[in-house]
Amino acid sequence: SKKYRPYPQIDLPNRRWPNNVLTKAPIWLSTDLRDGNQSLIDPMDIDKKLKMFDLLVQIGYKEIEIGFPSASQIEFDFVRKLIEEKRIPDDVTIQALTQARTDLINRTVESLVGAKNAIVHVYNATSPLFREVVYNKTKAETVEIAVKGIQDIKAALAALPADVCAQTQWRLEYSPETFSMTELEFSKEICEAVMSEWGATPDNKVILNLPTTIEVATPNVFADQIEWMHTHLANRESAIISVHPHNDRGTGTACSELAILAGADRVEGCLFGNGERTGNVCLVNLAINLWSQGIDPEVDYSNINEVIRIAEECTQLPVGARHPWAGELVFTAFSGSHQDAIKKGLTRQKDREAAADGDTIMWEVPYLPIDPADLGRSYEAVIRVNAQSGKGGMAYLLERDYDLTLPRLLQVEVARAVQVLADDTGRELSSEQIHEVFVEEFIER
Ligand code: KIV
Ligand code: ZN
Repeated sequence: SKKYRPYPQIDLPNRRWPNNVLTKAPIWLSTDLRDGNQSLIDPMDIDKKLKMFDLLVQIGYKEIEIGFPSASQIEFDFVRKLIEEKRIPDDVTIQALTQARTDLINRTVESLVGAKNAIVHVYNATSPLFREVVYNKTKAETVEIAVKGIQDIKAALAALPADVCAQTQWRLEYSPETFSMTELEFSKEICEAVMSEWGATPDNKVILNLPTTIEVATPNVFADQIEWMHTHLANRESAIISVHPHNDRGTGTACSELAILAGADRVEGCLFGNGERTGNVCLVNLAINLWSQGIDPEVDYSNINEVIRIAEECTQLPVGARHPWAGELVFTAFSGSHQDAIKKGLTRQKDREAAADGDTIMWEVPYLPIDPADLGRSYEAVIRVNAQSGKGGMAYLLERDYDLTLPRLLQVEVARAVQVLADDTGRELSSEQIHEVFVEEFIER
């Protein structure tokens, strides 16, 4: 067994947040089937949606946004199928998005009937740009839309037969869309109006989802906005503060992590950062970041290759070779100095594990922030040889695949011969090719 440690522990006298390291997993929400799906070239068909849903459940997500059921028949039918075919585990909550419009809210509630746990997620845009350019609404009218949305949800639930309504644990999520471009005082006003209309209490919390619908500032600015809401919101104990970072500036992960440090309770995102434009924050990245600091992310990525395979099949979007933690090359070293350090570290780690006699020891291997085996990755890909590599890499492959331990001086000679072939081909060399060079140049000659 092994452990990871939270880096860094810096003791600054006037530290902004009392605890500058993450200490526990947030509540996760996957919006792969909603924000992710709505941005695909070819949206998922029902089979793919089911596959994605099952994958999310298998990974361990307990809150899953399953679509926008009032937007199309296929979205509606999918929700009904999940419920009627009893495919939703009892500890999983499904969430459905709707605009704050009566007809859409009624249809959304209708789609969710019979689910054990459901969140109705209602939103309207709140920033000046959207109020003025898109909706031509004043601030007061914008608050009215949100409050009317909550009234409509309450009315739709009240209109259900009592026994039907009681089958479901109903919860509310409200998103002031474009939150990060909205005046903070106004965000507070509209969120408080929503909470009051719903009758939020600590036992009946409203999820306030504060999105960077479009990422427009550095992550510290978003964290300041979250901290401000966290410290200024009336009746804070009756709200769950959720964030929904998009990745327009490439800082969705930083926004999420800083937002948690600043007081957020929950994060919405997608596997491998699918979602509108540059995507939602990547849930895989966030979870394994926690894991790499010794914090249980409460989701299971111990078979990352299978997660990639299913996600790629459902979305038709390839996971990049350098995607954090998941890409094909992220645990691979080609360069000689890196290979040498990794080889020494892996050998030392093995010796320490053998000596530890079952006790937990820290993972300490240069250039490998976590053990690839934690994600179900083999060590085969860690050291690969091309013209950038030195003697360490080829010696490692000969030892691993051919049980050949070369003395140091011979390593230098063999590496020289291997280098000639690598330069000639300009390509990566397999261990078979390296072995052939060794046999031809040093055994048969
Ligand atoms: O990005 C966004 O603001 C959204 C909302 C609907 C939550 O997706
Ligand atoms: Zn979004």
